[in-house]
Amino acid sequence: MAESKTFKIGIIIGSTRVVRVGPQVAKFILDTVQTGGPSESSSADTTLKSRTTVDIIDIKDFNLPIFDEPGIPNRIKSPEAYQHEHTRVWGRHIASYDAFVFLSAQRNWGIPAELKNAIDYLFHEWKGKPAMIITFGGHGGLQCAEQLRTVIGAIGMRVVERMVNMKFPSFEYLDKGFKGEDLGLDVRNDEGPWAEHREAIAEVFWDEMVSKMLVVV
Ligand SMILES: Cc1cc2nc3c(=O)[nH]c(=O)nc-3n(C[C@H](O)[C@H](O)[C@H](O)COP(=O)(O)O)c2cc1C
Repeated sequence: MAESKTFKIGIIIGSTRVVRVGPQVAKFILDTVQTGGPSESSSADTTLKSRTTVDIIDIKDFNLPIFDEPGIPNRIKSPEAYQHEHTRVWGRHIASYDAFVFLSAQRNWGIPAELKNAIDYLFHEWKGKPAMIITFGGHGGLQCAEQLRTVIGAIGMRVVERMVNMKFPSFEYLDKGFKGEDLGLDVRNDEGPWAEHREAIAEVFWDEMVSKMLVVV
C-alpha cells in the first residue's frame, strides 16, 4: 500500500572544491524541508512526512577518480557488476535512494566537472527516479540548471519542472562563496537574504517532487 511505503531522499552536494560553501547550502535546504511539509492544498496524506527521510550526499566522501569504468553504465544492471570498488560503493549508495535534490554551484555557466563525473559513473541507479534542481552562484545558476536538466533527463530521471535559483544576494556574498566562508544561512532567520528561498524550496520539494512524483498511488 502506498500509505505504508517509506521514502529516502538525498540532497547531493555538487562541488568538491578545497574551499566551498555547498555543504552550508545543503544544510540550509535540509533544514528547510525538514521544517516544512506537504501543503494543505496538496493531495498528500498526513503520514507522508513521517514516512520520508532526507539526508545529504557529499560526493567528496566517495573519492571518485575521473570516470574509469571500462563498461558503459547503461548496460550494467547492478552496482555489484562494476569493475571498480569505488563505483560499486557509489552505486550501492545511490541505489538506496528514491529521489534526489541536485544542488549545483555554477561554474563558467556550467555544472561542476565533479558532479558530471559522479552522474556519469552510474545509470540504472538514477533512472526513473524523481529529481529537483537547486542552483546557486554569483548570478544564480540559470545556465547550469538548464545543463543539469539536460544531463539528468538523458539518464531517464523524472525532473521537476520548477527549479530553485539561489542567486547570491550581493558581490560580498560572491566573494565569501569563492573563499568558502560563512554565508549566514540559517533557516530560523526570517529577515536575512536567504529567507525568500525557503518557501520555494519547501513547495517544490514537498508538493512537486514528493507528493506528486514520488508517491505512486
Ligand atoms: C571556476 C569558477 C567558475 C565560476 N563561474 C561562475 C559562473 O559562471 N556564474 C556564477 O554565478 N558563479 C560562478 N562562480 C561562483 C561560484 O558559483 C561560487 O563560488 C560558489 O560558491 C561555488 O560553490 P562551492 O563553494 O560549493 O564550490 C564560479 C566559481 C568558480 C570557482
